[in-house]
Amino acid sequence: MTGIDIHIVGIGNLGISFLEGFKSLKDNTCLYLYENNKETIKNLESSYSVTTDIDQIDNGVLLLCIKPNNLNEFINVNKSKISEQVLIASPLAGVTINHFENHFKNKVLRLMPNLAIRNNSGFIPYTKNYDEDYLHFIEKLNHLGQTNEYPEDLFDIITAIFGSGPAWYFELSSKITDAATKLGMETDDAKFIVEQLILSLPSFLGEQKFGEIVNNIKSPNGTTEAGINSLKDNSFDKIIYEAIEAAVKRSITISKETNDG
Ligand SMILES: NC(=O)c1ccc[n+]([C@@H]2O[C@H](COP(=O)([O-])OP(=O)(O)OC[C@H]3O[C@@H](n4cnc5c(N)ncnc54)[C@H](OP(=O)(O)O)[C@@H]3O)[C@@H](O)[C@H]2O)c1
Repeated sequence: MTGIDIHIVGIGNLGISFLEGFKSLKDNTCLYLYENNKETIKNLESSYSVTTDIDQIDNGVLLLCIKPNNLNEFINVNKSKISEQVLIASPLAGVTINHFENHFKNKVLRLMPNLAIRNNSGFIPYTKNYDEDYLHFIEKLNHLGQTNEYPEDLFDIITAIFGSGPAWYFELSSKITDAATKLGMETDDAKFIVEQLILSLPSFLGEQKFGEIVNNIKSPNGTTEAGINSLKDNSFDKIIYEAIEAAVKRSITISKETNDG
């Protein structure tokens, strides 16, 4: 694998995760970091060289890790500094490839990882407006985890179930911990046990459907069935549907807001 220049703009939660993941690439890839936030710059400065403003980018990848509401200002300020050969890679929730095409002639890759890329154990759904693996960047992304291409019209759903996905599971974990505490367990013990539970989950994955896994755990009139029945009585499916639907709708709204900006 040959090295390329990767310019990461915005070293917040996702930008730092890309940085951590790419750090162990054993080629000549050079990482350039750009960040606005003074506090973040201060925290990074002892380990990395961070620049505030883009000077000129003539080749390589521009990996945008800023919030969607900062994008249009970023484009206005930096459009003329990014040459056409640069691959624009965007994990921004709700921002379409078409939005970039309205401002740039560049090749555009839209991706939706979650923060697990920092441990090189991620998964990166992507879509793009070009054919081959330009600059072999998908190959580089494979270093951070498995990659898979999807049609762009699925990206609002992918964003809701995968980009935001860890939050659903940790929100559930937080509530399970609270319940155990309320029922009499020390919070630290409950947290430890829930962490062990999370660590045990991958061993359940395989050919079976998720519902079948649940059926294997529950026995008639047992403890799991009692809990599952309570979830059903409290419309758990409706609660989850509405949460995912709200995230999808927000992604669609961000697309509209960004395009209006
Ligand atoms: N977090 C996730 O799990 C996740 C997963 C998938 C996709 N994403 C997407 O990734 C993007 C970043 O999310 P995040 O959670 O990493 O946000 P974040 O923690 O707020 O990081 C964004 C950073 O970019 C800085 N910034 C803003 N404009 C800049 C500019 N022009 N030049 C340099 N730095 C700039 C911000 O500084 P200020 O704070 O001063 O504005 C902030 O430090 C979002 O678009 C989100 O949709 C996030």
